[in-house]
Amino acid sequence: MADQYAHEASGEGSRPMLPVLRWEEPPEGAVVVLLDQTRLPAEEVELVCTDVPALVAAIQSLAVRGAPLLGIAGAYGVALAAARGYDVEEAAGLLERARPTAVNLGYGVRRAMAAYRAAGPAERGSAALMAAKELHRQDAEASARMAGHGLALLDELMPGGGHRILTHCNTGALVSGGEGTAFAVALGAHRVGRLRRLWVDETRPLFQGARLTAYEAARHGLPYTLLTDNAAGSLFAAGEVDAVLIGADRIAADGSVANKVGSYPLAVLAKYHGVPFVVVAPTTTIDPGTPDGASIVVEQRSADEVTDPAGAVGGGRRTAPPGARAYNPAFDVTPPALVTAIVTEEGVLSPVTREGVDGLLARGRRT
Ligand code: MRU
Repeated sequence: MADQYAHEASGEGSRPMLPVLRWEEPPEGAVVVLLDQTRLPAEEVELVCTDVPALVAAIQSLAVRGAPLLGIAGAYGVALAAARGYDVEEAAGLLERARPTAVNLGYGVRRAMAAYRAAGPAERGSAALMAAKELHRQDAEASARMAGHGLALLDELMPGGGHRILTHCNTGALVSGGEGTAFAVALGAHRVGRLRRLWVDETRPLFQGARLTAYEAARHGLPYTLLTDNAAGSLFAAGEVDAVLIGADRIAADGSVANKVGSYPLAVLAKYHGVPFVVVAPTTTIDPGTPDGASIVVEQRSADEVTDPAGAVGGGRRTAPPGARAYNPAFDVTPPALVTAIVTEEGVLSPVTREGVDGLLARGRRT
């Protein structure tokens, strides 16, 4: 069961955003409270998950989303199952299978499960919760470190500052324990006066760019401009893009990058126009068990998201005739040859090679 509590949204940047995800233990029992991302930017509404099926539904509807945050949600989900006396092994399976592409989800679940299994019977629940809190904290720390490495890379690639950065999907505080991945780098550039413009792809069909990245950019006072995804080509042709910064849902062992559908065409455009294409992701997004891009499972989502795009995120009008079929992969895969650099909390990998990815993993915390 999920209850929703609406909060009146005040002006941009006038107060901090509600927490994206938090754990609470009221007398009625433990809950995971999410900022419902399907309702943004119109309303800041919290979704209170009192059980694992509610959390799984929130993951599948994208109320909670973005690779690092999915890992954190998965870990808290294990703690929730334990606290509520559910079959924890079964709950872990449900959580892990909720969405297939972002490797962080399974990583978070497995990490909390490892702590749960290693503890004595009386401590299992608190061990899972501690693991979730630790992952949450580490992700915030990783986010800050990625921002630092990413900013140094931008300055190296484009000495002189005044960066015009194009981004896709949403990679800010809404996907992270901290300020995010790619967005955190753009935010860092803004704070030191080096961001000339953040170009924000609206990111069809679910508009994570228009709804979420624009919302975060506005709160921080970033100079941003929204564009339809299909306007990116003309923007490159006009010489208006200095770098592309995106996040990742899974990085294969060979450096192939799965990210929100529409990322691959940007990489092709960037290559043609000689513009750096930079991926920012924590090492928890690297999956040594996925050997290459072809092995990445890409989530296919409902045709309704395409035929009735605004309907999927509340309201709107159907754009296609009844019965229209739709191709709706949630992600695409960019080969390593098109990726200029991968920025992680452990440093920057460029060029992107299988050996380099191995080295990053060895330096990272991933087990
Ligand atoms: O389907 P979503 O909204 O969960 O997809 C999210 C993305 O593709 C992000 O770009 C990705 O998770 C990286 S965020 C650090």
